[in-house]
Amino acid sequence: MQGQRVLLRVDFNVPLSDGKIVDDSRIRAAVPTIKALLDGGASVVIMSHLGRPDGRVVDGLRLRPAAERLTQLIRVNVPTTGDALGVGTDDAVRRLRPGELLLLENVRFHAGEERNDPAFAERLASYGDVFVNDAFGAAHRAHASTVGVAAYLPSYVGLLMEQEVEALSNLLEKPARPFAAIVGGGKVSGKVAVLEALIKKVDLLILGGGVANTFLVASGRSVGKSLYESKMVDDARRILKLAQDRGVRVLRPVDGVVAKEVTRGTEFKVVSTDKLPASWHMVDLGPASITAIREALAPIKTILWNGPLGVFEIPSFAVATRELAKVAAEKADAGATVVVGGGDSIAALRQLGIAEKMTHLSTGGGASLEFLEGRDLPGLAVVPTAGSPYETLPIVYVAPVKPGGKAAPKRAAAKPKPIIKPSALDDEDDDESDPLA
Ligand code: 3PG
Ligand code: MG
Repeated sequence: MQGQRVLLRVDFNVPLSDGKIVDDSRIRAAVPTIKALLDGGASVVIMSHLGRPDGRVVDGLRLRPAAERLTQLIRVNVPTTGDALGVGTDDAVRRLRPGELLLLENVRFHAGEERNDPAFAERLASYGDVFVNDAFGAAHRAHASTVGVAAYLPSYVGLLMEQEVEALSNLLEKPARPFAAIVGGGKVSGKVAVLEALIKKVDLLILGGGVANTFLVASGRSVGKSLYESKMVDDARRILKLAQDRGVRVLRPVDGVVAKEVTRGTEFKVVSTDKLPASWHMVDLGPASITAIREALAPIKTILWNGPLGVFEIPSFAVATRELAKVAAEKADAGATVVVGGGDSIAALRQLGIAEKMTHLSTGGGASLEFLEGRDLPGLAVVPTAGSPYETLPIVYVAPVKPGGKAAPKRAAAKPKPIIKPSALDDEDDDESDPLA
């Protein structure tokens, strides 16, 4: 690494409120790779996106707050550029010395990022001698900074990427049994494929949130005004059938908290899911469901949890999610493997101060779901790993040759074709953290 300029992609797409970072997990998770590179004598040019500015400059989505938080975490000043590209940025990159770093402004301010535009990727690639992708959270996106640059530079994955892949692969390949998945969050759509994949792996599936409502409808209940997806009822039925055929137990809520409105300070009460009132909204699981979950989890040795069980944003309706967080921590203490993904589930654990007890907290929302589904993530697929199935992908990197045999120009000899077309893999509604309301 000594003397190398490393172009590092991280996922600093953190939740912000009034310009302040609400949860810095993703920034913390990138620290080991950043430190390793700096300690190894590299200079590091960091790229990230934040939010969905759609190719325009949006002041509220500048990366400065992330740079400030990273500065606090690593105790090294992290300057940001005003633009991901441009003469000022070219200059700042040129002046970087070993052991120094800078953060490029939000790459999604350029339309070329999400289009995986080769010209944009080539400009970014000119800022490094090698590319390191440590953005697991964005590994399901085939964008210029996650995939495009790999056509121009020798490419590697970072420590976070490695850790995520290892934890999630272990879960799928050799889980200690019995193995339970707990799936909550707002919508079934976007989770159908992962639910189908999980049914083939788990012994127990526990449902919560809006996802559970759709399954309640699929098994003949009416859910009043609760959030559910009528278009997904058939898929839910198919998943229930699949579970039945394979002998997988599916735990649906037996009671719920229903509210007049999905707002703070509204009237609410606990009812059985057999008699959900027509003009109320189910906003959380009830106490009997929580007890049933606790009992069902007692013999479980491996837990995968993704998504809140209720409308977590409203504290009165975050009870089941918080109770589940406590159960998860008890299980982890007792030696179970507990892997948690999705912003709200992790937020619940953090609020209770028990996040560190988990075996693994995934920084990926959509990315972890797609990984668990068994899909190839483009941000991983572009990195050639010896012995991996990706080894044979047509990566157009040609080692530079320069008279004298020292450091050499950093671009591919041939004009590379985009390795993976962005449109094929980029569906935008995979967000695990969609609120229930
Ligand atoms: C995420 O939060 O899911 C990743 O950072 C990717 O962001 P995106 O969903 O806007 O592509
Ligand atoms: Mg997303």
